[in-house]
Amino acid sequence: MEGDRPNSENEQLVMSKKQRKRLEKHKLFLERRKIKRQEKRERKKEEKRNLQQEGDAEEGSQKVNPGLSGPFPKKFKSMNSEDASSLRVAIDLSFEDLMSERDLQKLLKQVQRVYSVNRRAQHPVQLYLTSFGDKVKSKLDEIKCNYQHWDIYIKTELYSQVFAAEEIVYLTSDSSNVLKEIDQSKAYIIGGLVDHNHRKGLCYQLAVERGIAHAQLPITEFVQLNSRRVLTVNHVFEILMHFTESKDWKDAFYKVLPARKVVSEKKGDKGKEGNTEDVIEAGEELDEIQQEASQ
Ligand SMILES: C[S@@+](CC[C@H](N)C(=O)[O-])C[C@H]1O[C@@H](n2cnc3c(N)ncnc32)[C@H](O)[C@@H]1O
Repeated sequence: MEGDRPNSENEQLVMSKKQRKRLEKHKLFLERRKIKRQEKRERKKEEKRNLQQEGDAEEGSQKVNPGLSGPFPKKFKSMNSEDASSLRVAIDLSFEDLMSERDLQKLLKQVQRVYSVNRRAQHPVQLYLTSFGDKVKSKLDEIKCNYQHWDIYIKTELYSQVFAAEEIVYLTSDSSNVLKEIDQSKAYIIGGLVDHNHRKGLCYQLAVERGIAHAQLPITEFVQLNSRRVLTVNHVFEILMHFTESKDWKDAFYKVLPARKVVSEKKGDKGKEGNTEDVIEAGEELDEIQQEASQ
């Protein structure tokens, strides 16, 4: 008889009953969670498809949220839309062998950011990736950012084979030429390099060797940084984009550069020689970049 069983045996029976119930409950919870997650994934896919369709349909029509400084507009504009700019900007990806895997990964996050900013710009520029090589390709494949479907020109050739020599301006902080205006007929090249300042002057040196025009952004004329004036690829691109819209360099620098990097408008101490390039490496904004670029 059950009543004759020793206490511990009864407890065991009760416990196992409880455990069985708990187990069943947990199984049910897991099943429900699986279904819910599946439904959420489907919903997200559907939202993404709708967004894409809306963006395609919206090309050439009024933008919902103009300007780069506010939250990103939901509607995407293609480089072929009526509103697109004829300005050409290329990221020179010829340095893949000079970077560690980690730095290449950082560079590609910056590239994704550039793409994402251009997609959401009021007047997207004609954006190029030149010297698109195997390492970059396999890293982008790994990230699964859908770059094959990006609205961008992907070229395996060096920028000098893509654009006429007289159209090219290589942007480099080491140039003694200071950019005053942006010439819509030119192709501006940004060096795709994350080097923590270990390869000082490399892009400048290559531009000089190749007989290519070069220029630096007019940072020192408008703002005082508490770090070196070597910026990340995405910050350079975003400054160009802001300037093309506002025609105001100071405004562009203030909007794009993180506040802690800007000391003042051209006054005060020179500050310590840090490296602005580290800004993006600190992880700011980057979590969202991959998601944005895959849209
Ligand atoms: C992190 S920097 C690369 C630094 C590298 N040591 C070099 O030789 O240029 C990435 C790219 O951003 C652009 N860049 C950065 N700061 C700039 C500035 N102040 N003016 C113009 N271009 C700049 C350049 O095209 C540069 O190649």
